[in-house]
Amino acid sequence: MRYYIQFTAGTGKLVAEAIRSYVDDPEIIYVDDSSMIFESSTPRSSVESIPFVKNSFSVIADTARRNVDKDVIELADILRLDDLDSYADTFRVMFHIDGELVSVSPRAKRALESEIAAASGQRLLGRGMGEEYWIVGRTDFDYLMLCRRHFRPKRASKSAGAISHELSILLVAASRPQPDDVFLDPFAGSGSFPLARLMFPGKRVIYSDIDLARLSVDFPKSVRDQRDIEFLADDALTLYSIKDHEVTTIVTDPPWGEYDELPMPLPEFLSATVRSFDRVLDPRVGRFVLLVARRAADEAEKALRDRRFEIDAVHKVLVNGHPATVLIGGRPTANA
Ligand SMILES: C[S@@+](CC[C@H](N)C(=O)[O-])C[C@H]1O[C@@H](n2cnc3c(N)ncnc32)[C@H](O)[C@@H]1O
Repeated sequence: MRYYIQFTAGTGKLVAEAIRSYVDDPEIIYVDDSSMIFESSTPRSSVESIPFVKNSFSVIADTARRNVDKDVIELADILRLDDLDSYADTFRVMFHIDGELVSVSPRAKRALESEIAAASGQRLLGRGMGEEYWIVGRTDFDYLMLCRRHFRPKRASKSAGAISHELSILLVAASRPQPDDVFLDPFAGSGSFPLARLMFPGKRVIYSDIDLARLSVDFPKSVRDQRDIEFLADDALTLYSIKDHEVTTIVTDPPWGEYDELPMPLPEFLSATVRSFDRVLDPRVGRFVLLVARRAADEAEKALRDRRFEIDAVHKVLVNGHPATVLIGGRPTANA
């Protein structure tokens, strides 16, 4: 089966690595910074629940891309729906080409809609909760696809300022989770990284945030009721509750240095943060995934290298529209 998935902008490489843990032998046909097309025998029900995917689709048919109206008529001629179950009695069609919704000629639209209605037995309805068929074209992909959008499982709501569940899972997956991990997020905020870490086997998951008392009032229920997370209110620059070298993995998102939220200039704050990582991280297998504002990335890299951490991957991502950088690495031996 061929699938088309969409995810957080800038995470294409992280997704290409993480996807292998969720689908069988994916053959990646196309990937860009926010979407991927792959073949796999994994059923649709598993693909639609991959936690870092924002939207997923089954590809029903494709055709070489020339002229959108002609291509849509071509797709109407070749579509087959018999091997897919329907979600709903009604449907609508969307045209999403090169990153935006577009319109096509009334003739092409009608041709596609009537073929879908005939093949699926569904009734056309312009809006509402029905099934969605999408015509998708991507820059740099020479085909136009007819896709059926998957049902999107309801995700827990996130607090304002929290990192999305999709990105949290990808960052945790990038830390290469192990069953004997002692995981720490020392700037844990709403708890999105510790919560994401619980989706992988591990020994301990530690949440710490200096502002725990205030933040805990607004914790989502999924975090508030969580018995598998140890909650601390340590200053990340000292982490006084954590013993030397007790932690195997840190995934975190330090303050971005805006609105006077730091007690010292950002470079000093990052340097003190990394000194604290150096103390608590296992000297052999310690690893980190650090999400920082893009403009702070050079300072963060310098602070890490000054403490002889290695950086083995750098990814540019967008967090709620703001440029950010992900630094992944660890002790020299941890990356060998
Ligand atoms: C960018 S937010 C983290 C957001 C979090 N990743 C989430 O998804 O909710 C940074 C957090 O660091 C905390 N913080 C700021 N200074 C701290 C310090 N010195 N020690 C520990 N936590 C601190 C803030 O209270 C804030 O919750």
